[in-house]
Amino acid sequence: MKEIKLTIFYKELNSENELPASFQQLLKSAKEAINDSYAPYSNFNVGAAALLENGIIVKGSNQENASSPAGICAEGVTLSAVSAFHPNIPIVALAVSAKAKNSELSNPVAPCGLCRQAILEYDYRFQRNIQLILQGSSGKIIWIDDAKKLLPLYFGKDDIKASGSTNF
Ligand code: THU
Repeated sequence: MKEIKLTIFYKELNSENELPASFQQLLKSAKEAINDSYAPYSNFNVGAAALLENGIIVKGSNQENASSPAGICAEGVTLSAVSAFHPNIPIVALAVSAKAKNSELSNPVAPCGLCRQAILEYDYRFQRNIQLILQGSSGKIIWIDDAKKLLPLYFGKDDIKASGSTNF
């Protein structure tokens, strides 16, 4: 038996001015998307924005539902919008930001587990690392050069292939 240590590196920034201009714009778009959020149940409004390889920015926000599992995260809405309106264009980076009704979010908001898996599928599909820019409503920014870092030991298409299934 051996013990394996997993280590990830990411960047922590004190201000958006430390980001390249294209990512500053992307984060701004994620913040704008917060205004389109529908979150009457959690009062936690999330905005996301994807920068595509062709330079287009696609925005999305969380859309809740009285039946909570039917709600969709901002990242999920954004990925679906990319697939629907810009099919077959790889995603270079995804920014996420959020606002809570009664408190200042000074810590970055990171994609939930389900969204991490959905982001990875995009990476797999286009064989391209997706960068993440994460912030709360203010405060420090996290910049991760590869979303896969947030989902070590992930389950992917290769795992299904390895099972010998002929459906993939
Ligand atoms: N949410 C997102 O949209 N993205 C995340 O990364 C975390 C959580 C949403 C889901 C739900 O509408 C609300 O935030 C509270 O969980």
